[in-house]
Amino acid sequence: MEYALLNGEIIDRSQAKVDVEDRGYQFGDGVYEVIRVYNGKMFTLTEHLKRFADSAKSIGISLPFTSLRLAEMLEELLLKNNLQTGNIYMQVTRGTAPRNHLFPTGNVTPTLTAYTIKGVRPLENLKSGVKAILTEDIRWLRCDIKSLNLLGNLLAKQKASEQGCFEAIQHRGQDVTEGSSSNIFMVKNGTVITHESNHLILKGITKDVILNVCNKNNIPVQERTFSLAELEEAEEVFLSSTTAEVMPVIEIDGKKIRSGIPGPLTQKLQDLFEKEIEKQCGALVDNVM
Ligand code: PDD
Repeated sequence: MEYALLNGEIIDRSQAKVDVEDRGYQFGDGVYEVIRVYNGKMFTLTEHLKRFADSAKSIGISLPFTSLRLAEMLEELLLKNNLQTGNIYMQVTRGTAPRNHLFPTGNVTPTLTAYTIKGVRPLENLKSGVKAILTEDIRWLRCDIKSLNLLGNLLAKQKASEQGCFEAIQHRGQDVTEGSSSNIFMVKNGTVITHESNHLILKGITKDVILNVCNKNNIPVQERTFSLAELEEAEEVFLSSTTAEVMPVIEIDGKKIRSGIPGPLTQKLQDLFEKEIEKQCGALVDNVM
């Protein structure tokens, strides 16, 4: 049997149901996290729990559990579902109340759910790299909140997929922001450059791990806005996310980067990133789910 977490209880997943007036279902009124699991262990759990609490707070949802209690429940869920390699998806909504744009008054308990998803690492793509398209960033101006409202992201990702690509790299006018479900990095004169963490992008946890390993290994980094023109001239380009790790981009809008092979600095960062995973989760020997 598969289990899911619903409001503090771990139950049969097929019984984990929410009301039709749950505000997450009706308005996307909630926030979420995706946490990667390697060797049955959660990677960067503390950082995900912190961002979850920060996102919830920024839209005025008070989490019904402490981060410590949440960590315990997620651990139990992992064990019950015997997940070795995959993801935990967790979300909280403002709860169930009669439909009204205004926040409900009175005692409405947030709905908190989590479940596990089996999934191997994308090893083929990590090795060969992926293709991307460029698309105008049509999302709202609080992309720092990991909100359930992902329609702009979905439209971008779908467009990429329909063109045989892995990701849509979004830009506001001439400024590159982030992928539809990832952060973007480029290399210029040996310096790793990525958008500063502000309201226009999600402050990726993978992004932060990468920035830290760059600093520890004396790889020059800059967090700043860069333009489409700079991206076009980039020596290397890669994406980062919980599920995609450090993902080389080898082609954008049909134009090859570095004649279509992952760059050396990207590969170095992939190695360093794997070491970070191994420090927390143990040796990455295989891809067992
Ligand atoms: N997405 N930017 C956006 C818009 C994202 O949706 C994500 C992650 C990231 C990278 O964040 P992190 O490194 O913390 O995963 C950046 C997750 C994986 C998802 O929605 O499935």
